[in-house]
Amino acid sequence: MSNNKDSLVKKYIDDHQKSAILHKRAKKLFTADGATHFIRILNPYRPYITHADGCKKWDVDGNEYIDYIMGHGALLLGHNHPDVVRAVQEQMSRGVLYGENHALEVEWAELIQEMMPSAERVLLFPCGNEANMMALRLCRVFTGRNKVLRFEKHYHGWADELASPTEPSVCHDNVVFIPPNNLNKLEEELSKKEYAALFTEAGGAFLGGRTPLDIDFVRQIHGLAQKYGTLWVLDEVVTGFRVSPGGWQGVVGVKPDLTTLGKCVGGGLSAGALIGRADIFEALNPKNAPGLRVQHGGTWNANPLTASAGIAACKLFKTGEPQKKSAEAAALLRKEGNKILKERGISGAFYGQSSIVYLYFGPIDHEITDETVSPTKDAAKLTDPSMTPILNRLLIHLLQRGIANILGSIFIFSTMHTGDDVDKTINAFRESIDAMLNEGSLSAVR
Ligand SMILES: Cc1ncc(COP(=O)(O)O)c(C=O)c1O
Repeated sequence: MSNNKDSLVKKYIDDHQKSAILHKRAKKLFTADGATHFIRILNPYRPYITHADGCKKWDVDGNEYIDYIMGHGALLLGHNHPDVVRAVQEQMSRGVLYGENHALEVEWAELIQEMMPSAERVLLFPCGNEANMMALRLCRVFTGRNKVLRFEKHYHGWADELASPTEPSVCHDNVVFIPPNNLNKLEEELSKKEYAALFTEAGGAFLGGRTPLDIDFVRQIHGLAQKYGTLWVLDEVVTGFRVSPGGWQGVVGVKPDLTTLGKCVGGGLSAGALIGRADIFEALNPKNAPGLRVQHGGTWNANPLTASAGIAACKLFKTGEPQKKSAEAAALLRKEGNKILKERGISGAFYGQSSIVYLYFGPIDHEITDETVSPTKDAAKLTDPSMTPILNRLLIHLLQRGIANILGSIFIFSTMHTGDDVDKTINAFRESIDAMLNEGSLSAVR
């Protein structure tokens, strides 16, 4: 499966010539093979986009795509939702950064609080990464402990203690990683009474649960953490408002000490939020003596432009309709996609819950009868790096057929995706799979 000179790649480069020119310029600027985010790296290169609307986007060469990246999951409402556009346009002419308190930040935070019962207090940020950094700071101040307990493969951003343990030159001295879904191991660590915080990615590792968490396990986390004086931080940066108005915690029925939000909360503009117990937020009280007080800086915190978009979006999230509609379209892709895999005898599955779909190639533990259940419980199989070349290849096939997703394997839906878009996606997937069977690039899973 040569990836450089074969006819697919040649055709892709022919059809994406203006993107190639931009990629060449980008490589001199952005060392990560010209990309500005690790999931935007692809050999030869991903297309360079000029504009987007609804669930579609277009590149500099005039190619059209059904978009399943949806702003890394931030765009549950799709591109340019009219309510968000109107709100932002109106705010634009009223000023984008007052550097002062304003009514919009209050309204936005109240909407968040109304949807999330765990939100006794709210703090606003420009992104989810920063919300997690503050969560960690507050947990340390509150508990007087330093150490952080995390689950393997769970993603919380790129800051030092939140980054992957495989990152070089990152300070992990205070971080311990344990496998998820193992109560004994969790209790063994927590009982050392050393941890300020236990971080958990809502749904499971990577974009809402590519390696899912057992719900029974999740329901016991908080009790155990409380028993040993550790604060539980639930990272709902992906799931917050995407899976339900009350987030993943509302679906599962848990109430973490702190929750971080991002992506959807800003209605498509960059945002993050930290919500949770008022007593933990007390560290931010200006009446605290120096040394006991956490100060929250940040030029872009709660900026009026993002707040206006966030308000427009949260009003829609509150209805539950965007979540329902996007989840229905996603369920259709899982169902129809699995038929194609089964018909062709390919070992793998489409799976997932709500409006995110994961595609997995590899051994499955059971016949797929319920697409919300992952095809294997083995996280190592679900994230097996030996499948990356197959998924990269699939991605180029899909891009050539007008489908843009994340790393070939993740499809993020919005309320703008229709049954017709799913049909087109299924056709593109079928054609791609048949082409791959022809060229022999699927032999490892058949
Ligand atoms: C679960 C999770 N937490 C935190 C983050 C970081 O959020 P941001 O990219 O807004 O800084 C991400 C980003 O993808 C995420 O998926």
